Amino acid sequence: MSYRIPLIRPYISKRVKTMINEVLDSGYLTEGPVTRQFESAVAGYTGAGHAVAFTSCTTGLETALRVLGVGPGDEVIVPDFTYPATAGAVQIVGATPVIVDVDPDTMLMTPELAEEAISASTKVIIPVSLFGLPFDHDGFTELKKKYEVWILEDAACALGSVYKGKRTGTLADISVFSFHPRKFITTGEGGMVTTDNGKWAEAMNRYKHFGMGKPGDRGELVFLTPGTNYKMSNVQAAIGLAQMEDIDNLLAERMNLAEKYTRLLEPVKSIQCPVEPEYISHSWQSYTVFVKGRDDIMRKMRNQGIEVQIGTYALHMHPAFQDGNAKLRGQFHGSIRAFEEALVLPMYHGMTSQEQTEVVEKLSECVE
Ligand SMILES: Cc1ncc(COP(=O)(O)O)c(C=O)c1O
Repeated sequence: MSYRIPLIRPYISKRVKTMINEVLDSGYLTEGPVTRQFESAVAGYTGAGHAVAFTSCTTGLETALRVLGVGPGDEVIVPDFTYPATAGAVQIVGATPVIVDVDPDTMLMTPELAEEAISASTKVIIPVSLFGLPFDHDGFTELKKKYEVWILEDAACALGSVYKGKRTGTLADISVFSFHPRKFITTGEGGMVTTDNGKWAEAMNRYKHFGMGKPGDRGELVFLTPGTNYKMSNVQAAIGLAQMEDIDNLLAERMNLAEKYTRLLEPVKSIQCPVEPEYISHSWQSYTVFVKGRDDIMRKMRNQGIEVQIGTYALHMHPAFQDGNAKLRGQFHGSIRAFEEALVLPMYHGMTSQEQTEVVEKLSECVE
């Protein structure tokens, strides 16, 4: 179904089309020089030492876990309120996801909740910077000092967010972004891993290129390790690269739209607007409010042509993470609240003031 006011619209500028055409004309369609440029653009923007492109955030997370040596017998702590891919990547490498609750207001896993779940088998913690709100970098850094664990950030939604002056992509040992079309920089499908660790970057690059080592003197190839194909094509990278040229403007626009939503929603007392601590800068992948009776409101809004959406999923409710497929820790009050009450409002490049006002008017009518 197409909506009059969609949740998001991909940013396909003239420049995006020109750059795709250049790739098509070049005949070099698979991963190549444009992918390298896109990686450089993301590394340069975030300030990370290395960026490695992937087919998705999920395959990036899986590869990062492999490079960190995670496998059978290891535990990885993840939040309950997240997209299933966060925990699915852990299962794919044969390790056990240990699922903990989230804060009921920020919807993020806190260092305290993660600490309660740490055991001798914990190897990695995956905080999720959900909807563009960066994870508690200071708190998780303290945990890293106290226990022998790596911090792998699921930054699927968080390109452009900032924590105490540091951009997401530099806040964890490894961060992984998504370029799925729900993100404001999108390559259709795609992901990017960032890290300051050159050895890890090289190992991730090797894994996604069939385990291939650097060619020898005569150009001969050697396959050093088991590997797979998680390459990002030049065609996809061209879309992302063109969009990266406009990232500052796109982000500024999202910030303005978010500010306006917060202002317009101020009088609607039954709606709780997103939390924004003063030391962070939110990248607004999603503008997510809390409202009671969310499902009914969502249906009514959609019937009027306005695409609203749930926040994301509470993993403990799904068979994939029950019955020994994961370890569930706690009662999940925060996550259940987020699952039942979080509502994502439309936000896209070019959204007009009139459209935003209409979203808030219709929402106000629905909650009354
Ligand atoms: C928090 C989170 N992690 C992981 C993913 C998976 O990203 P991808 O579709 O690029 O694999 C998503 C998707 O939206 C997500 O929201």
